[in-house]
Amino acid sequence: MNTKYIDLINQTFDFPQSEFTIEGGQLFFHDIDLKKLVETYGTPLKFTYLPQISNNINRAKNWFNQAIIKHHYKGTYNYCYCTKSSHFKHVLDEALKNDIHIETSSAFDIDIVESLKKEGKIENDTYVICNGFKREQYIANIARLINSGHQNCIPIIDNYEEIDLLSNEIEGNFNIGIRIASEEEPKFEFYTSRLGIGYKNIVPFYNKQIKNNSKVQLKILHFFINTGIRDNAYYWNELLKCLKVYTSLKKICPSLDSLNIGGGFPIKNSLAFDFDYGYMIDEIVNQIKLACEEESVDVPNIFTEFGSFTVGESGGAIYKVLYQKQQNDREKWNMINSSFITTLPDTWAINKRFVMLPINRWNSTYERVLLGGLTCDSDDYYNSEQHINAIYLPKYDKNKPLYVGFFNTGAYQETVGGYGGLQHCLIPAPKHILIERDESGNIITRIFRGQQKSEDLLNILGYKKDTSTDNNNVETINDLQLANN
Ligand SMILES: Cc1ncc(COP(=O)(O)O)c(C=O)c1O
Repeated sequence: MNTKYIDLINQTFDFPQSEFTIEGGQLFFHDIDLKKLVETYGTPLKFTYLPQISNNINRAKNWFNQAIIKHHYKGTYNYCYCTKSSHFKHVLDEALKNDIHIETSSAFDIDIVESLKKEGKIENDTYVICNGFKREQYIANIARLINSGHQNCIPIIDNYEEIDLLSNEIEGNFNIGIRIASEEEPKFEFYTSRLGIGYKNIVPFYNKQIKNNSKVQLKILHFFINTGIRDNAYYWNELLKCLKVYTSLKKICPSLDSLNIGGGFPIKNSLAFDFDYGYMIDEIVNQIKLACEEESVDVPNIFTEFGSFTVGESGGAIYKVLYQKQQNDREKWNMINSSFITTLPDTWAINKRFVMLPINRWNSTYERVLLGGLTCDSDDYYNSEQHINAIYLPKYDKNKPLYVGFFNTGAYQETVGGYGGLQHCLIPAPKHILIERDESGNIITRIFRGQQKSEDLLNILGYKKDTSTDNNNVETINDLQLANN
């Protein structure tokens, strides 16, 4: 009888797969003995398999190179890593081994870039594409980087004020991009992304604020589709709309020479995952070329900013099943020794699915279960809503420990989950004020904790930050003054 867990997987999927193999009833990931990892370090644990970062970067570069050769495409391809998906130093150190560029999303990202420049890992000709809504500190940091000679730092204009704000701080001329606010998929609650400038407003914006402005040169048109790069009518329609804007703008703006198609490359989220990356890239390059030929303009250099694709498939989390609670005839809760909400927040916040597999006991019989986390929150669970099918795992046996692995979790989970005090996009946690009343009823305020500083976050991420240029300290001093009043 084929009743073992391994039989179930063999019957349901193409298995083994390039990264997942079984030896002696135990799971190996890229030939790494995960049971041994668990025995050495205990659970719960998270790991990062660094070589996968370089593997994926080079896979994407090869697909683009093949498409460029096939279509006799005259532009170049530039791989940028979207740092917000994982800012850790070990991740950037690995990614930067592969002659890539960087995309940033907020002020402290620039401190990371400067730290990496000091170590010689980022050069002056590395593109630093600055996306995101730019507040004072981000503007100041971008200006500092450009003023220090980093001409390939290119702020992508996200709203109308940013050109003036940047011009006030940057000493010489500088290059910019413009982000198109893409239109969301019809099922979304809103029509147009809040990020960037609407399609119809791009050319008027160029004519009004850029064309006769000798300080700025428009180099890049940028767009990012929230739902990612997918072979569906919505994606191709948005790409074509964007290409129309590119060709119209190119005709009146000779300095424009690059198109940034953003991030959003999918990663493997189940053993049944099937995405033809090579075909998608081939078709994107083809469509860009056709659109430019039709309008008789030169093809752009292509930029991408893959976050999940760069780092997602390097990460994993392993938990132990602590106990099984049978709550009724049908529902067996396998309780893990950690929390989904805190360690894999996307499973809870956006119903994200990850590859989930037992680490050991593949030769045991299996059962259908629900997986529960340790917090007291009823949403702290992982079940078939996220998982493509019901969850099956080797049968719980209190005398035979069972370990469960979640794979390809390397992007976003640490910052969104607040690892060590991190924040999504490194937007610092605000100051926290305590308000009390004295015996006469007068209000007294004091600071419980000031706003997080760049060095707080960079330390958690593994960087040593030079604080000599840090304007954030000014804010702390103001805070203290307020406290004394
Ligand atoms: C502007 C921009 N570029 C790139 C990315 C990276 O997306 P992904 O991690 O899906 O590749 C994001 C993600 O939100 C983004 O907003």
